[in-house]
Amino acid sequence: MNSKRFYLTIATLLVYSLGFSQQQKLADTVAGIPVNYKEDKAGTYTLPDPLTLNNGKKVTSADGWMKKRRPEILNMYQEIQFGKAPGKPDAMAFNVFDKGTPVFNGTAIRKQVTVYFTKDTSDHKMDLLIYLPANAPKPAPLLLNISFVPNCLSVGDSGVKKGFMWTKEGKKVSATQTAFRKFEVEKFITNGIGVALVYYGDIEPDFAGGLPYGIRSQYLGASGKPAPEDWGAIAAWAWGLSRAMDYFETDKDINAKKIAVTGASRLGKTVLWTGAQDQRFAMVIASISGEGGAALSRRNFGETIGHITDPARYLYQFAANYHDYSNRVDQLPMDAHMLVSLIAPRPLLLQTGNTDFWSDPRGEYLSARAAEPVYKLFGKTGPGDHDFPAPGDTSLLNPLGYYMHEGGHAVLPTDLDVFVTFIKKYLIAN
Ligand code: GCU
Repeated sequence: MNSKRFYLTIATLLVYSLGFSQQQKLADTVAGIPVNYKEDKAGTYTLPDPLTLNNGKKVTSADGWMKKRRPEILNMYQEIQFGKAPGKPDAMAFNVFDKGTPVFNGTAIRKQVTVYFTKDTSDHKMDLLIYLPANAPKPAPLLLNISFVPNCLSVGDSGVKKGFMWTKEGKKVSATQTAFRKFEVEKFITNGIGVALVYYGDIEPDFAGGLPYGIRSQYLGASGKPAPEDWGAIAAWAWGLSRAMDYFETDKDINAKKIAVTGASRLGKTVLWTGAQDQRFAMVIASISGEGGAALSRRNFGETIGHITDPARYLYQFAANYHDYSNRVDQLPMDAHMLVSLIAPRPLLLQTGNTDFWSDPRGEYLSARAAEPVYKLFGKTGPGDHDFPAPGDTSLLNPLGYYMHEGGHAVLPTDLDVFVTFIKKYLIAN
């Protein structure tokens, strides 16, 4: 490697290590609650059976799953964990202000759309940035990514509308450069896959006390306060992704039946909940989703419900009810394998990192194994009896797929190559 390349590589790695939220240090306690990182202290537990109905009867068919058990589990997540969200707003409107501009040397067509959530168009709106492959058959399949930064910072394209970001004081300010790496749109375009990007802050801000500023403020009841089962920020972001899907269904250049949705970390949790609730999404790719996402909560390793729902940390991302399970996880009627199972039979990829201990990559693998009986009802496979894979092992890219990179809490360029493989195999070929 020549020296210029070497420094470029170091610079790139630095940017990745700054990616998303900072990798948590292996602290003994978080929010005053001990954190376990020892495999032999992860405890023993019995997971609820995804196939046993609340009345004790077993579900044995795909039809029984879809009609009886799936709604029960969905309801548990709505009541307890993510909270209940409203439906599609009557006043929603789309403004396609960029109708198709050739970009990236003519290999892609860019569209930009503002989705208005309310009648008043001054606030509560989301910008959708869309790239479609110019040289592939239309309508195009597409990967929808929910990002931590505004669209203008997500990609290297000066034609993208300048967006806003949040300050902790609840002010929207012009997007300023951050250390976040760009989303590699062209990697997908060259493979015939469109990309759409949404900034999560357009939907709901991401801080405790953010409620008055985001879309949730528009749905408060007469008390002006959320009820314990009302939606948290994650459900609000998921709701926004469903509104993006509402737009895709109107665009004849986009194949709305072939939309994959992806996000990382708290946004990995978000895309799992999006796919669980909104079956129009044909595929979910959930990166480093961890606690409250695909990692088993009953397994005491890394983050726990107590840590995540601490009011000084991330309780605002969930229904308030979730906090009640901090000290009695064994009484939860569900666990993360049941969130995973709600995606069945649609392809789902869980992407993790082997040193992302806080997010418990093994807990995600065990969750996939425990969800597999549901996929099997549809003749689809998961990890089977394959051991916990080594980092970089691509042999678990089954419809209920699992992939772990060598490294920490991030989505690496090599992960995106795996996403392309997964999308080609299960979204495009099928
Ligand atoms: C924190 C949080 C995680 C979350 C992560 C992120 O580490 O504890 O649950 O996934 O932030 O969103 O980056």
